[in-house]
Amino acid sequence: MSPRVRVGVVGAGAMGSAHVRTITDSVPQGLVTTVFDLDADRAAAVAHPVGATVAGSAEEVVLSDEVDAVLVASPDFTHAELVRACLKAQKPVLCEKPLALSAAEARSVVEAEVTLGRRLVQVGFMRRYDPAFADLQRAVADGRLGDVRLVHAVHRNVSSTTSTDDAGLVTGSMVHELDVIPWLLNDQVRAVRVESPVTTGFRDPQQATVWTRGGVMATVEVFVNAAYGYDVQCEVVGTRGTAALGPVRSLASRIAGVEGRPLGGDFVEHFADAYRIELSAWIRACYAGEPPSGPSAWDGYLANLAAEAGVRSLASGLREDVDPGARPRLYDGS
Ligand SMILES: NC(=O)c1ccc[n+]([C@@H]2O[C@H](COP(=O)([O-])OP(=O)(O)OC[C@H]3O[C@@H](n4cnc5c(N)ncnc54)[C@H](O)[C@@H]3O)[C@@H](O)[C@H]2O)c1
Repeated sequence: MSPRVRVGVVGAGAMGSAHVRTITDSVPQGLVTTVFDLDADRAAAVAHPVGATVAGSAEEVVLSDEVDAVLVASPDFTHAELVRACLKAQKPVLCEKPLALSAAEARSVVEAEVTLGRRLVQVGFMRRYDPAFADLQRAVADGRLGDVRLVHAVHRNVSSTTSTDDAGLVTGSMVHELDVIPWLLNDQVRAVRVESPVTTGFRDPQQATVWTRGGVMATVEVFVNAAYGYDVQCEVVGTRGTAALGPVRSLASRIAGVEGRPLGGDFVEHFADAYRIELSAWIRACYAGEPPSGPSAWDGYLANLAAEAGVRSLASGLREDVDPGARPRLYDGS
């Protein structure tokens, strides 16, 4: 390992370019050395300002001697194959969510990692690193709220160019809640029902009910074309009280008889701290040669499995069960 962790990036769109900026500006132990994007101009626009080279293919990034660890930020359908290639090359990989398009594909990644016998995969469920979500998780864990009964989550985007169909909304957007809710509760998803008031065309918004093995019910609204702003809310209701994410911005104005507080425009702005903390922790683990401390391939598989149940439910109108089977020992304590 060189004095810094040399990172190769696949995908230089909204997320990939933000990650490159964050590593360069805020993670001194990391150095972006190589970038690949199908759009070579985009790759160059992201790589050159940080002194990185442009690779000719994703495989070149994974196999490069100048790359110690790989960050996958290309479209969802590319993830599982790229992560398996990283496992074959025995390189740590931070893969943007979701780990795969289907639970079967995610399971194949888990199996490849189990066969390798060491954990190299982290999935980009960055909300677990968000300071406000971390506070909420602590409020649940220390028992302040009593026994948790309900969770209410809301996830709205101005618009989305990546979640553009019914299944993609669940696997690409709602998948954040399907990961973060069980993480908040130290619990597992048992069943999911997803409905929409929209019956023709793209069924956005969608409203899910999520049941956990520990007996909690959660409501999840995802609206990816909500127009007014980026808005993520989460309230946990227990037998002794409730706790919710607070406002992200502190500036409140009172102008012309109207009280106002700005909303963020998108995830890059809203979760800037979460991405920075996520990338710092990932690079630290890579540097130390330790397994990643963040969401594992198994967590990615669980989220894919719950999302798949959600997609089935949207078609069937029924509550669909989630049964992951036994967790491989490789993920004990992760
Ligand atoms: N963690 C989060 O909060 C979060 C937020 C947004 C997106 N994402 C995820 O990040 C990934 C990228 O999303 P985005 O919003 O940056 O999308 P985007 O469309 O802005 O960027 C995707 C980029 O990948 C490139 N690309 C397409 N096919 C490719 C291939 N086969 N190999 C390499 N590059 C390819 C495109 O040219 C584009 O530059 C997606 O998986 C998405 O689900 C995560």
